[in-house]
Amino acid sequence: MKKVLINFAHPARSHSKINSALRAAVQDIKGVTINDLYAQYPDFMIDTEREQVLCETHDVIIFQHPLYWYSTPAIIKEWMDLVLEHGWAYGTTGKALEGKIFLQALSGGGDADTYQREGLNRFTIEELTSPMQATANLCCLRWLPPFTVLGAHRGLPHAEIEAHAEDYRRVVLALKNSTLDLDIAGKFPFVNSDLNAIIKGHN
Ligand SMILES: Cc1cc2nc3c(=O)[nH]c(=O)nc-3n(C[C@H](O)[C@H](O)[C@H](O)COP(=O)(O)O)c2cc1C
Repeated sequence: MKKVLINFAHPARSHSKINSALRAAVQDIKGVTINDLYAQYPDFMIDTEREQVLCETHDVIIFQHPLYWYSTPAIIKEWMDLVLEHGWAYGTTGKALEGKIFLQALSGGGDADTYQREGLNRFTIEELTSPMQATANLCCLRWLPPFTVLGAHRGLPHAEIEAHAEDYRRVVLALKNSTLDLDIAGKFPFVNSDLNAIIKGHN
């Protein structure tokens, strides 16, 4: 069984519908650690050693967050700046993350059609998440396309949010049980584009 670390970052947790539902759907799974970065570090004083040990003791690293200005909330950037040290995460001797699986789980206010070249936001989610992909690549992580929930601004119905939460649970369980086909998943724009195509057996 793989151990799954979820680095959760939402600056306004009490207003969250999507990320709260996603988190609630996975928090009881044995072997899943939820590391709430804003709760842990309200003053942004990130404990680098604690975070590195958490990464070292897990096989799958997920960053779960709402999209903020086409990127992550600020604490994830701070986390990356401090935790991903040369000689630990990258560089000739920096192999601490090698072979671990990396997934970004994000929600956005804009609908899918706004994240197209001709759409309001001009860039695709794939393009906007490319710095994360590049980081994963440099750190020898096994990158997966992001788990993506879009359309928050139109007020997603409760049932739709719950369906996404159930999909998130399936993905996390499949990562834990090694029943998610990483090669096939990599061919889709989002890890949750077609779960039946990428998860072997039933979860
Ligand atoms: C400061 C700020 C920046 C945001 N930037 C974006 C953005 O760039 N793209 C987008 O689609 N939504 C953006 N949003 C909307 C949030 O992503 C959206 O409200 C959130 O994903 C909904 O998830 P939640 O219910 O867990 O809060 C932004 C919201 C805030 C408060």
